[in-house]
Amino acid sequence: MPAILNKTLLNQDVARLDIYAPLIAAKALPGQFVIIRATAESERVPLTIAQADTSNGAVTVVVQKVGKSTLVLSELSTGDNLHDIVGPLGMPTHTEGLKKAAVVGGGLGCAIAWPITKALHDQGTETHMIAGFRNKDLVILENEMLRDATALHLCTDDGSYGEKGFVTDKLRLLVQQGHSFDRVYAIGPLIMMKFVSKLTKELGIPTVVSMNPIMVDGTGMCGACRVTVDGKVRFACVDGPDFDGHLVDFDETMKRASAYKEFEAARKESHICNLMGVKTNA
Ligand code: FES
Repeated sequence: MPAILNKTLLNQDVARLDIYAPLIAAKALPGQFVIIRATAESERVPLTIAQADTSNGAVTVVVQKVGKSTLVLSELSTGDNLHDIVGPLGMPTHTEGLKKAAVVGGGLGCAIAWPITKALHDQGTETHMIAGFRNKDLVILENEMLRDATALHLCTDDGSYGEKGFVTDKLRLLVQQGHSFDRVYAIGPLIMMKFVSKLTKELGIPTVVSMNPIMVDGTGMCGACRVTVDGKVRFACVDGPDFDGHLVDFDETMKRASAYKEFEAARKESHICNLMGVKTNA
């Protein structure tokens, strides 16, 4: 059973787990993901690989408590075992041939944006990372992003840390200041990726987004992760998770995602109530 080598809390709702999975660590590339089950009864949770370290066989993932399954995962500690982990899954992010790129991360999406930034920076691409959070308390992985980007532009919606404003404002400003990006990568909430893609379409910059819809089997069999791209149905788990941001039907994906939100909130509430011994109908 894969063991958790180290668990670190990045903020009140987000944990970093370094999991012993040497075969996955040896093969993983930026943009790929794993599917984890905390226990035999747990749901399968897809999580993008934030880091793979072949020196200790660790695969790093970042988990946010959004529903019952991620809550159970977040409650595990260093030394605990997971029931299983499978991967690496999905297509790696293409980074080759770029002179200058911008990587835009929103909230938890920064955990996925960070390894892409690192891969670009390591290959010699001038890489500007724009990291956006709602407020100072939600900032994660600042030191890692600072270390692995050519320049880090950290923004908060309320101005409590870094620059005040949205990632789209910062991206527009950088372009106005004369930065010419060969490609933009956007990873974060659907609404953020939608508006980054809208802006880059206007600016004429090719854009890659990382889609993270509901997944079940992660092998292209169940159809749960379907997204519409350029009018065609694609599966995020095998065709993605990266897609051309200018061709993704974000509105349809957001509609599907919102259908699960209420359900997840009820299950999370139910789990917390069970932990506290409170009866619930959820
Ligand atoms: Fe089942 Fe992608 S998760 S097809």
